[in-house]
Amino acid sequence: MKYLTIIFIFIFLTIVSIPFINGTVSGPDLKSGDDWTVPNWATITTNSGFFSEERTANVNINVGVFDIAWKQINPSKDVYTFTTSASVKDMTFSSFNSQNSTTKQFWMRIWNSGVNWAPTWIQSFCNVASIGQDYDGDAHLPIWNSCVWGEIKKMYSHIFLDLNMRADPRLKFIYVPGAFNWCEFDFTEIGNYSTSTGYSYASFNTWFQQAMKDLVDIFGPYSYKLVYTGEDYPFDVDSWPSGKNLLARDAVSKGMGIRNGITEIFNFHLSEIPAYGVTIDTTSGYLKFNKSWLLQANPNRVIGTENECYNDCGFTVASSNIYYAVKMSNLKALQMGVNWLYLVASSSYLSTYPDFYNWMRYSLGKQSTTAFDAWATLRNAQDTFWIYDTSLNWPGKPYIKNLETNLLQRDIKGGAYTKNGSVKKTNIYGGNTDLGISYEGRQTDLVTGNNTMSFFVDDDFSFGTISNVQIKVTYLDLQSTQWLIRYKDSNNVVSNTSSVSVGTTNTYYTATFNFTSIQFTNSISVGRNADFEIINTGSKDIEILFVRVVKLSPTTTTGSTINDSSKLDIPNESSILSISFILILLLSSSLILI
Ligand SMILES: *[C@@H]1O[C@H](CO)[C@@H](O)[C@H](O)[C@H]1NC(C)=O
Ligand SMILES: *[C@@H]1O[C@H](CO)[C@@H](O)[C@H](O)[C@H]1NC(C)=O
Ligand SMILES: *[C@@H]1O[C@H](CO)[C@@H](O)[C@H](O)[C@H]1NC(C)=O
Ligand SMILES: *[C@@H]1O[C@H](CO)[C@@H](O)[C@H](O)[C@H]1NC(C)=O
Ligand SMILES: *[C@@H]1O[C@H](CO)[C@@H](O)[C@H](O)[C@H]1NC(C)=O
Ligand SMILES: *[C@@H]1O[C@H](CO)[C@@H](O)[C@H](O)[C@H]1NC(C)=O
Ligand SMILES: *[C@@H]1O[C@H](CO)[C@@H](O)[C@H](O)[C@H]1NC(C)=O
Ligand SMILES: *[C@@H]1O[C@H](CO)[C@@H](O)[C@H](O)[C@H]1NC(C)=O
Ligand SMILES: *[C@@H]1O[C@H](CO)[C@@H](O)[C@H](O)[C@H]1NC(C)=O
Repeated sequence: MKYLTIIFIFIFLTIVSIPFINGTVSGPDLKSGDDWTVPNWATITTNSGFFSEERTANVNINVGVFDIAWKQINPSKDVYTFTTSASVKDMTFSSFNSQNSTTKQFWMRIWNSGVNWAPTWIQSFCNVASIGQDYDGDAHLPIWNSCVWGEIKKMYSHIFLDLNMRADPRLKFIYVPGAFNWCEFDFTEIGNYSTSTGYSYASFNTWFQQAMKDLVDIFGPYSYKLVYTGEDYPFDVDSWPSGKNLLARDAVSKGMGIRNGITEIFNFHLSEIPAYGVTIDTTSGYLKFNKSWLLQANPNRVIGTENECYNDCGFTVASSNIYYAVKMSNLKALQMGVNWLYLVASSSYLSTYPDFYNWMRYSLGKQSTTAFDAWATLRNAQDTFWIYDTSLNWPGKPYIKNLETNLLQRDIKGGAYTKNGSVKKTNIYGGNTDLGISYEGRQTDLVTGNNTMSFFVDDDFSFGTISNVQIKVTYLDLQSTQWLIRYKDSNNVVSNTSSVSVGTTNTYYTATFNFTSIQFTNSISVGRNADFEIINTGSKDIEILFVRVVKLSPTTTTGSTINDSSKLDIPNESSILSISFILILLLSSSLILI
């Protein structure tokens, strides 16, 4: 009886002590190269996808284009017809009715500004003529002419409001305002716009603000389907006052989405993009991402970009650099918060990199609260646009550090400063130097006593203790040394993973650690307040390329629990070991006594 009591006490103590077990870490599992594993529980975001002219179902391009020329549907003033086809460039747009017969999802373009896209009556009715040609030799009309815009506005109003196409669930979004080459509102395409038209910024801006509001009003509750196709800091508006060229941001402020056409050149002209809520932190040279920005905070809005010009559109990328260019341009897209990605099945290399594009497909449109992972690409890269623009300055200009989503790496005093990686990338795109120079990866700097890299998980992604997390670290096997991860376990104990031995193959490896539970409470290391750190425990510098925190299950954080429990006197690791030791003694003695 006495022994049974002891056994019961033992079982009771074991059960009671379970909550105090501070989790385990296993690994490293090593894999050659990058690791784009998507956890099983991850789902595709509703308002997200790959889109293109042509649908290609086997590579998940399910949204095709519905292209209409203005002349095709509005052949005479106030007359609308849906049965004729039209020629634009070397393409034939089949009739509105024919395209409208699809049951599949589509995006739209209405080609307005080209002399050959607009109905012929508009020139005499509005007394306008071509203001210049785009790079394909197509002439364009001034859509800001009040008569021209008045008629365009009527057409949009007829199709989208009167016929209620704005509410059509198949219509995912429409590129607006439908001007300049390929309907991209890019001023370079008609020469030095500001001087060739003699138009002042003030008059242009007055038209612009009203015109974007007109479109938002026509689409009303569906204005999130509008996608403005220009960019902030547009080129060739040289005579316009600097600092006032935030047209894209203004369009977004009115309720539109946004898209960029040139993230292939992923370092260039993409660091300061207020329309996307991404700006340069001028105190440090890292990028700031404003997740409260109207566009990023509203999951209905469209945040787009296009990544297909690697060996197309006049660009060439050597085969040895294709993966790099595809990967970096798409990481840049995700860093911008993109949910809709324009791809072309062959020229975007979708079938060549299926694992990467699978991860992209799942990642599109994730917010910090819905993401399955958080990642940081460590680097230092020129944004050559800012060499010539003096309106912003920052330490290290024109270099920008890292591309990050929900995970930040920051250089911090007390041993956590990093230095440039050894991999210098330049001349990636034949015939284009805008991409500039970049150093991929960051190194510790043991010579100056900097052996640490500090990481910060976004608190909306995770705060407190979570279960089943992986940390994946892609590093260069550059020189013989070793590193480990310092993290905080669920009982507030700062712990080390086992070490990763770095060799000299000069190739990349991804090391994965599995944590049954881990705590992200910005409290590793006094003064640095990191969530976890990579510590170089060897004698040569390590070079880290990419770090990813993956939630293996859709855990909700237990922030309030950890805040409450941190006030309690929870036993630390050594106390737990002592309890376990005592329990084992009890068990052994009871067995002996039986
Ligand atoms: C880590 O977790 C993954 C996913 O569950 C599993 O495949 C892998 O074997 C685990 N590795 C270790 C060392 O436990
Ligand atoms: C386009 O197709 C939809 C769905 O069949 C239909 O409701 C709508 O009336 C059509 N639009 C026009 C202009 O015919
Ligand atoms: C455009 O015109 C402005 C004003 O005349 C001039 O300063 C600028 O150099 C021109 N830009 C180009 C690319 O020709
Ligand atoms: C972020 O966006 C919000 C909402 O639009 C805005 O109020 C805030 O000023 C922005 N923050 C920064 C730092 O720009
Ligand atoms: C780390 O690097 C920084 C910047 O170069 C330097 O100021 C600092 O003294 C170095 N050492 C430590 C331990 O922080
Ligand atoms: C990294 O490279 C840039 C560009 O060459 C240079 O300005 C900077 O000083 C380097 N930083 C470090 C820490 O070596
Ligand atoms: C973790 O590793 C670091 C670096 O080797 C060491 O200074 C520290 O004492 C270790 N901490 C624990 C709890 O083992
Ligand atoms: C937990 O405590 C931290 C630091 O005091 C605080 O910033 C955070 O908001 C708290 N979280 C919760 C969920 O109460
Ligand atoms: C853990 O508990 C032991 C025994 O109570 C104590 O000596 C030690 O200082 C504690 N360690 C920490 C990190 O609190």
